[in-house]
Amino acid sequence: MADTLGMDPARIERLRSPERLEYFHPDRIWEVLKPAPGCTLVDIGAGVGFLTLPFAERFPQAKAYGCDILEGMVGLLRQDAAERGHGNLEALLMAPNSIDLPDNSADFITMGQLHHELDAPEPLMAECKRLLKPGGTIAIIDWADADNGKSPPVGRRVPVAVMRAQLKGVGFTGVDTHDVYEFHTFMTATA
Ligand SMILES: C[S@@+](CC[C@H](N)C(=O)[O-])C[C@H]1O[C@@H](n2cnc3c(N)ncnc32)[C@H](O)[C@@H]1O
Repeated sequence: MADTLGMDPARIERLRSPERLEYFHPDRIWEVLKPAPGCTLVDIGAGVGFLTLPFAERFPQAKAYGCDILEGMVGLLRQDAAERGHGNLEALLMAPNSIDLPDNSADFITMGQLHHELDAPEPLMAECKRLLKPGGTIAIIDWADADNGKSPPVGRRVPVAVMRAQLKGVGFTGVDTHDVYEFHTFMTATA
């Protein structure tokens, strides 16, 4: 078994829970983004691959990078990708706000349930802008700012207006929201 480096096994189980598919199914994201077969996706805060693994499976001609700051998460994702035979998925350990990939290397960046954990989102958004090709898309999906029985309490969830201002502040354009999930805000913006 991969070393979880002290990570909470209950958290890993929660991230892998099939119950999440009922209200946060990754397919809804691809229906909005419409990835071309040979595209490149960078999934930031990939965790154990809730978005990255199904993307790699559904788009075998695409390249997927699953990036996380926790070595344990990266190890588990790497192990799962190998066991499932996803040769198009690379698990990458990243530093906060820094991913070891060249400029203009991604068509899409996803951040699923990550934004509310960030102390300073702007530097990471600026890194996303660097990584995306001109015209590429960032997709931020995070808990809705609402008392809906699933989202965390006020103070641990991020209003749409705040995310919009952060994205625009680092140079993204065409910020849009997608009414797709019951409990999540889904925003896209263009690099
Ligand atoms: C709530 S989990 C979500 C994981 C996955 N996206 C999902 O939906 O299952 C958030 C993940 O983001 C990672 N993370 C936290 N801060 C981060 C940062 N600054 N940069 C990259 N990843 C980060 C955590 O280690 C964790 O794996």
